[in-house]
Amino acid sequence: MDLEKRKVVLIGNWKMYKTIPEAARFIEELAPKVETLPFNIYLAVAFTAIKIANDAAVHTKIVIGAQNMNDASEGAFTGEIAGKMLVDAGAKFVILGHSERRVLFQEDNAFINRKVKRALKDGLQPVLCVGESSQERELGNAETVLRSQLLECLDGLTEEDILSVILAYEPVWAVGTGQVASCEIIEKAHQYCRQLLAEKWGVSVSEKISIQYGGSIRAKDVKEILSLPDVDGFLVGGASLSIESFSQIIDNLHELIKESNGEV
Ligand code: PGA
Repeated sequence: MDLEKRKVVLIGNWKMYKTIPEAARFIEELAPKVETLPFNIYLAVAFTAIKIANDAAVHTKIVIGAQNMNDASEGAFTGEIAGKMLVDAGAKFVILGHSERRVLFQEDNAFINRKVKRALKDGLQPVLCVGESSQERELGNAETVLRSQLLECLDGLTEEDILSVILAYEPVWAVGTGQVASCEIIEKAHQYCRQLLAEKWGVSVSEKISIQYGGSIRAKDVKEILSLPDVDGFLVGGASLSIESFSQIIDNLHELIKESNGEV
């Protein structure tokens, strides 16, 4: 992290978990614990829970968002959801290009690019996920994959657009597997993403963009990984589902920030 240049962000991705009452209970329990934090907690909840979660999160440090949306503004797309419907329900951000969407639902970079543009148009902050598979890494193609995902998914965005995007590096082999990427792999990938952003949108833009790491993050990993210069927070799946494990992550993050500010 680099507190002078960028904000720290923590995002919980609940995936297809938590009913409406479960979501409301979680937020009511979490809110008092995060009242004095110097950073926001983002929670990507199920579509059905957005409204209630947002109501419970008003006037707290918790920001509610969604995990996916369609690229069209509206239309005959049975089962899909539009950005403006998410905004309507209270969502402030949307995760796009998650590896589960890319792998299980065959979403490609061009489709994700259209979604990113639509999200920005609708007033949602896009959290764009990029990351290579284990096979791509073994073949030495990790950077090539990152390059095409990042540049194609963000194609056509202005400097101003880019500054609203949060990026998340999530190697596919680390998501939901219990296998956290090494600090060396993470820092190299984050640096590379920043280099790509600098080449296309300039150094000052690239230095302002928050890049999260995601993939099997647990509380014990937080301090070491967040100490890396180009890591600005985490996208957390499994460990965001229980108050205990998520609070431990939040506490470790907060402690590290306080230590860096010389407050402890
Ligand atoms: P995980 O999920 O923390 O369970 O690996 C991360 C994610 O899906 O964003």
